[in-house]
Amino acid sequence: MERIEGVVLAAGEGRRMRSRRPKVLHEILGLPMGAYVLRAMREAVDRVWVVTGYRCEEVEEGLRQWCSSFVRQGAPKGTGDALRTVVSSLTAPLILVAPGDVPLIRGSTLRGLVEHHLREGMDVTVLTAFVKDPEGYGRVVRDGGAVVAIVEDREASLAEKALQEVNTGVYLFSLSLLVKALPLLSPHPPKGEYYLPDVVSWAVKGGYKVGAVQVKDPLEGMGVNTRRELAKAWGVLRDRKNEALMEGGVTIVDPCSTYVDVEVEVGQDTVIAPWVQIQGKSRLEEDCLICSHVRIRDSHLGKGARVLEASYMEGVTLGEGVRVGPMAHLRPGTVLGAEVKVGNFVEVKGSQLGAGTKASHLAYIGDATIGRGVNVGAGTITCNYDGFRKHPTIIGDGVFIGSDTQLVAPVRVGDHALIGAGSTITKDVPENALALSRTPQKIFAGKGMLYLRKRRGR
Ligand code: UD1
Ligand code: CA
Repeated sequence: MERIEGVVLAAGEGRRMRSRRPKVLHEILGLPMGAYVLRAMREAVDRVWVVTGYRCEEVEEGLRQWCSSFVRQGAPKGTGDALRTVVSSLTAPLILVAPGDVPLIRGSTLRGLVEHHLREGMDVTVLTAFVKDPEGYGRVVRDGGAVVAIVEDREASLAEKALQEVNTGVYLFSLSLLVKALPLLSPHPPKGEYYLPDVVSWAVKGGYKVGAVQVKDPLEGMGVNTRRELAKAWGVLRDRKNEALMEGGVTIVDPCSTYVDVEVEVGQDTVIAPWVQIQGKSRLEEDCLICSHVRIRDSHLGKGARVLEASYMEGVTLGEGVRVGPMAHLRPGTVLGAEVKVGNFVEVKGSQLGAGTKASHLAYIGDATIGRGVNVGAGTITCNYDGFRKHPTIIGDGVFIGSDTQLVAPVRVGDHALIGAGSTITKDVPENALALSRTPQKIFAGKGMLYLRKRRGR
């Protein structure tokens, strides 16, 4: 049997987001908002449940990576009703509840709440926050210092509206209290919703021990109900990630314009210029240089890799000392060996380039396996698609491909072959061979520009 179980409430529609997407699935730095709450929960409880409702299948799919126990609330009849749907599944004596829209909450804060609750022998402990602008939140009403009730914004008197201590929606309850209290909640007009905060005043009246812990950093308790709050949460989580990276020895020139997803790892002495996004499950080793306007997604960069301005890559592996860009596009399945150079306006897809190979300008390399020390000339194109299927191009070591070459796949070029500029290669080239496929050049003496001008009378 688990000692503490967690419940995340995520059945609401999130109407204030004005979105077709359920609120808890709105992403911040690569993770859905609800995942942040679940990650924090996992630091404090033994098992977590999520209550779903609005577009429940989508929500369950979107959060399954962080939680596999879901309970569905029939109609969204309020936070009290949401907790009621799950209560019969719970077995632990202590239940930690959080809304799915508090992505800034920290695991350490939740652990602190649990410790306080146990130390003081409480039946209910509410996590509160002292905020400058309490509008929209439930206000914490105290009497002689003791919490007596939580009053929702829309039902608060003028005096209560002025209270700046608010309910974060995070609570710790003893299960036995919930089992008694939840069936007794009454619905609030106009929508007939059952309010979970009503359990607090019920417990006070019933003589239970009710306490509160005020969160040190009030931002942690911020509920994300609107797109403006979503943007604010982005900023806070971006800063937290950047601060952790800087503490680990990464230089971030302008943290305000650097967006690194939560799960990204960056090695020591890597330098990140302004206006960069590093996303998904990317890992950058030590001493990398990431220049401005670069986006890196789900990629692994070896030690000392340099990605120059305005390059985009997804699902790629770069060896040590690779140089990419400026303005290069590396697509999934690309693997570049050590010291490879891929320059401006080069696109690579599903291809391996051996160590020291260079494609410095204006090329398309798709479905190719290229050996070591190859020179891919400017304007080289692997013609990998015949309108029906993709075909491979295989190039050996030490090959020189002259500029403006088309390699019509499937085709194979042997080691140390030389292809003359402007060739269209449709047949395999043996190793050490020279291949050329240009139309022979013709010369018409005296027919240059002077001749043309004369004929046109200019
Ligand atoms: C709630 C609290 C308020 C607190 C604030 C903190 C209530 C009545 N009010 O208000 O005191 O200050 O959070 O952020 O609890 N949900 C369900 N089923 C429902 C309704 C909501 O699962 O029927 C879920 C939502 O998906 C959401 C969470 O509960 O994740 C909170 O609901 P929300 O509508 O955002 O409550 P607030 O108005 O913010
Ligand atoms: Ca909310």
